Amino acid sequence: RDAFDRALDALRTGDPVLVHDAADREGETDLIYHADAVTADAVARLRNDAGGLVCVALGHDVAEAFDLPFYTEEVDHPAAGDHDLGYDERSSFSLTVNHRDTYTGITDADRSTTIQALGAAAATPGRVDFPDQFRVPGHVHLLKAAPDLLAQREGHTELGVALADAAGLPAAVVVCEMLDDETGEALSPADARAYADRHDFAYLEGSEITTRLG
Ligand code: 5RP
Ligand code: CA
Ligand code: ZN
Ligand code: ZN
Repeated sequence: RDAFDRALDALRTGDPVLVHDAADREGETDLIYHADAVTADAVARLRNDAGGLVCVALGHDVAEAFDLPFYTEEVDHPAAGDHDLGYDERSSFSLTVNHRDTYTGITDADRSTTIQALGAAAATPGRVDFPDQFRVPGHVHLLKAAPDLLAQREGHTELGVALADAAGLPAAVVVCEMLDDETGEALSPADARAYADRHDFAYLEGSEITTRLG
């Protein structure tokens, strides 16, 4: 099986995959799990081995069913008016949330509770009372995929959701940037690939995903 098929298998069995977007975009490699699979140990791996921002990317329709906006649409502040990103038209950030069964929301157990509940909710979005289960703000950043997914945007948000779709899983994945502990910069693709090889995790370039699914 090639790396793409191994990545789909990994998401189904709860293992992480690595996805590098593109050298001319963020130039970042995110560690990605299906949300259902994010145990407290997986949160520990995300903050220790990846080290970036732990986010849950939701499919556009799932986010709409939960009445989740893009952050910039909802916040009436002049700093939210102009996107001004170097690498894309706009950010995919939505709100931040904690599950109501969490205390501070930041511990490995609390973030796992929030993330797994998001994964479960994404399986039956129409039947979820979102405010009954989650509070805003919280310690898990939500990302909302573009309506036409990879046809519109090729961020980790869309790449991750597209992989979940292709694996036949609900549209909810955790993404977190791999940072270099020595330099504080994005981990280089070569080092990210070496990490993947060491742990026997699948590594994909964004272009491999768009080619397979485009
Ligand atoms: C949030 C980010 C990450 O890069 C994440 O991968 C989502 O962003 P995008 O869809 O733009 O790649 O900045 O931590
Ligand atoms: Ca580290
Ligand atoms: Zn990204
Ligand atoms: Zn990023």
